[in-house]
Amino acid sequence: MILMGQKMTPAYPKEYVKTAPLKQQRAWEHERKWNGKEEWLTPPYILKALGEFDLDPCAPKFRPWDIARKHYTIDDNGLMQKWTGRVWLNPPYGTQTKLWLAKMAGHGNGIALIYARTETQMFFRYIWQAADGIMFLRRRLRFYTMNGEPAKAPCGAPSVLVAYGKENAECLRKCWLDGKYIALIPS
Ligand SMILES: C[S@@+](CC[C@H](N)C(=O)[O-])C[C@H]1O[C@@H](n2cnc3c(N)ncnc32)[C@H](O)[C@@H]1O
Repeated sequence: MILMGQKMTPAYPKEYVKTAPLKQQRAWEHERKWNGKEEWLTPPYILKALGEFDLDPCAPKFRPWDIARKHYTIDDNGLMQKWTGRVWLNPPYGTQTKLWLAKMAGHGNGIALIYARTETQMFFRYIWQAADGIMFLRRRLRFYTMNGEPAKAPCGAPSVLVAYGKENAECLRKCWLDGKYIALIPS
């Protein structure tokens, strides 16, 4: 919904500006100001279990390891870039997560890691109705810091891996990660 008098920010991708309320755009602009505090990295064993990825569209500027063959950082604004190949998506959390998942659902090739907030509109729209498979991970994950060390405490919510595309669903189904896989039929 676009409100009267709402100011558009050119850095915000056009297709999302159309639907983003002002509050969300502000949150988005806030997120784009990098402060290094949101750098919770995927545990490397998860990446190892899922094979190689062509692109991480939201990678840390300073990272202890490469996540995919190609990375976009906050300086590139990965949401505005063209995504190609098999995408690994552990998006910035908060109000803008849905924008990343929307783009992932449209792209249709890759695996996303997000919190299991299964009742939300975002989850229904971009996962339950759009993904090909989902794995609920056993136990809370311990994300990694930019120093390459595991966080001192587990994260605040359960996590899921979400597969887009049949090959990624098969990869999730067969992988050795501890969790429960469920096949989905996009509707
Ligand atoms: C939850 S972390 C995940 C990091 C990495 N993708 C991984 O799986 O380990 C989210 C990352 O998104 C980056 N980020 C935030 N806004 C971004 C943007 N507009 N474009 C690209 N990256 C962004 C942050 O700097 C942070 O590194």
